[in-house]
Amino acid sequence: MEAIEGEIRPERAIGAGYAGRIFSQIQGIIDDTGGQAGALIRVLQQAQGLIGYLPVPILKTISRDLKIPLSEVYGIVSFYHFFTMVPKGRHVIQVCMGTSCYVKGGQKLLDTLKKEDDLEPEDITPDGKFSLETVRCLGCCGLSPVVAIGDDVHRKVKPSELKDILSSYK
Ligand code: FES
Repeated sequence: MEAIEGEIRPERAIGAGYAGRIFSQIQGIIDDTGGQAGALIRVLQQAQGLIGYLPVPILKTISRDLKIPLSEVYGIVSFYHFFTMVPKGRHVIQVCMGTSCYVKGGQKLLDTLKKEDDLEPEDITPDGKFSLETVRCLGCCGLSPVVAIGDDVHRKVKPSELKDILSSYK
């Protein structure tokens, strides 16, 4: 099997020229399972590892070839939080919108990301560097508002600090 993982970038994962190669890779993953229905989660994990997310055409292919109803495949994808149907950036920004962070300015952080980076929740930047999510609580409410970028947790973030914080990520 040809290794193409390094060439796949979220923003063009299903673009022309890549789709055929991706589908053949997915087919290889499915074939390796021997078509066992119990392999669904493993196939989904490997497909997401290959592409970075799980677009609808891929879910339909998996559903068809594993002979599992599409509704069941969707159910699994939405049940496990580590599966995603939207592309993720190399760095995932999580703005906390739990009560404490909301009260202390979480919405202003989102507004700033929208205004300065044209980034809204579930968006990805055109270069695939950042994607944005909102979360309910990151567990450090006393230091609100909180923004996580990957494994880094930034506390008491002011909107004016966002630009410098983002620019520290390559
Ligand atoms: S509400 Fe944001 S960290 Fe708890």
